[in-house]
Amino acid sequence: MDEQDAKLNTESREIWDTNAEAWDKKIGAGGGWQTTLIAPMVERMLNIQAGETVLDIACGNGQFSRRLLELGASVVASDFSTKLIELAKGRTTEHIERIRYHVVDATDEAQLLALAGADQQRFDAAVCNNALMDMPVIEPLFRAVAKLLKPNGRFVFSIMHPCFNGLAISMSPELPDYAQTPTYSVKISRYLSWEATKGTAIREQPREQYYWHRPLHVLLNAAFENGLVMDRLEEPKLVEVDAAKNAFNWTNYDMPPLLFVRLRPSKNP
Ligand SMILES: C[S@@+](CC[C@H](N)C(=O)[O-])C[C@H]1O[C@@H](n2cnc3c(N)ncnc32)[C@H](O)[C@@H]1O
Repeated sequence: MDEQDAKLNTESREIWDTNAEAWDKKIGAGGGWQTTLIAPMVERMLNIQAGETVLDIACGNGQFSRRLLELGASVVASDFSTKLIELAKGRTTEHIERIRYHVVDATDEAQLLALAGADQQRFDAAVCNNALMDMPVIEPLFRAVAKLLKPNGRFVFSIMHPCFNGLAISMSPELPDYAQTPTYSVKISRYLSWEATKGTAIREQPREQYYWHRPLHVLLNAAFENGLVMDRLEEPKLVEVDAAKNAFNWTNYDMPPLLFVRLRPSKNP
């Protein structure tokens, strides 16, 4: 990581610490994308078996880590925000003997590898929900995951869909004259180029956070070039039971707001 990225990553950590309580309150209440869209899809793609050991990278307030506990897994959960890890610990009241929380910067391969202790290739599965776009570099994470997983292990990540959802898109509901129903589209002003950009994930957060958009080829080649191969990709539509009748609600759009990818260690790294 170059000096500029390291600086932004440090600032990003401070921002996540500042926003931690707002994030915890919002996500902890349930009913958002984490519980309606991300968790069910990631659960299907991971297919966790009771007794497996799972690594949750950038776990936030640990909502999905605790779901993994309910599924019978042992969990190592990590995030670079000390504050979020404290909140995650505070929310963990059941199966505490099967979970360990650690403050770890996922842009640092050595810190991630240290999670395995002496035992490399320790994990049956790994997960990183909606966090890769929050990191200035992702190659160290992919490299570490390829080493941490058992040979038949799997790694699932979810991410804001780089083609349809991000800071360079605008959502466009249109009602042509005399039409009965609106058409919903997104306009994309930039896809191929990128730099750190600030934006807002939840309305309640005190500070804007950094995002690092990456086009698909950059995102996925970073995984392929660092010891992983892909065996599943999902692009689900957002379906909510009580969708707000808001023209900008993603349930109206025939487009996926999130991308889900499953990777496995390459047999020929
Ligand atoms: C959008 S939140 C997602 C949290 C959680 N995975 C979830 O789905 O609820 C992004 C998370 O990434 C974490 N994060 C961002 N950059 C990180 C880094 N370099 N290392 C570790 N965690 C990071 C943030 O602290 C935050 O918890």
